[in-house]
Amino acid sequence: MAKQRTQRRVVVTAGPTHEHVDPVRYLGNESSGKMGFEIARAARRRGDEVVLVAGPVHLPTPAGVTRVDVVSARDMLRATRAAFDEADALFMAAAVADWRPRRRLAGKWRAKDAGADSAVLELVRNPDILASLGRRKGERLVVGFALETGGGLRRAQGKLERKRADYVVLNDASALGADRSSVTILGRDGSRLRLEKRTKRAIAGHLVRLEKPV
Ligand code: CTP
Repeated sequence: MAKQRTQRRVVVTAGPTHEHVDPVRYLGNESSGKMGFEIARAARRRGDEVVLVAGPVHLPTPAGVTRVDVVSARDMLRATRAAFDEADALFMAAAVADWRPRRRLAGKWRAKDAGADSAVLELVRNPDILASLGRRKGERLVVGFALETGGGLRRAQGKLERKRADYVVLNDASALGADRSSVTILGRDGSRLRLEKRTKRAIAGHLVRLEKPV
């Protein structure tokens, strides 16, 4: 007889966050959202109930997935925390901005009007969503991502420990916007799985089958 699996409730974050300076300008990043959307799709196909918390991206919502659109890191924290309260697993694929402008101006930033050749934008730290939810995960599965440009394994291992994730998926800047990526999945139990030049869809298929390390 086929083994019965209870339906998991899964939260996936995807895409960049936008941190507004004024009504028309923001700090953002190159994240396409593809990896997170593929994870949401793969989890749904596996039979999970899925909430996808999406930063500003133009990607179609995978069939059967509940999508919550957000803009900033603080919006993403609120939406992800609420969804994670009801969930069994979190895949934190979003490229959350680490910093935001101290103030969001109500009108356009007019720094050049006084003839200045330089201007200073003061930034403050955003909350770390993965670290904050990793601390309170209990028996729930938490998977984070690390995009590194050098010293990848060491830095990814540091994030795994600091943010109390069960796994961290290490990739590099060639993954940005691409359909294929090479990743190393680092586990809290010391496991390492290398996947070379796979489609994001194939990588997502691996990720949604990860079991919580004992
Ligand atoms: N992350 C998060 N909240 C943040 C920043 C990052 O939840 N404010 C999550 C990302 O979704 C990802 C993981 O943390 O799963 C790693 O993000 P990254 O920005 O690479 O880590 P940092 O610790 O911010 O390191 P770096 O200085 O290399 O950017």
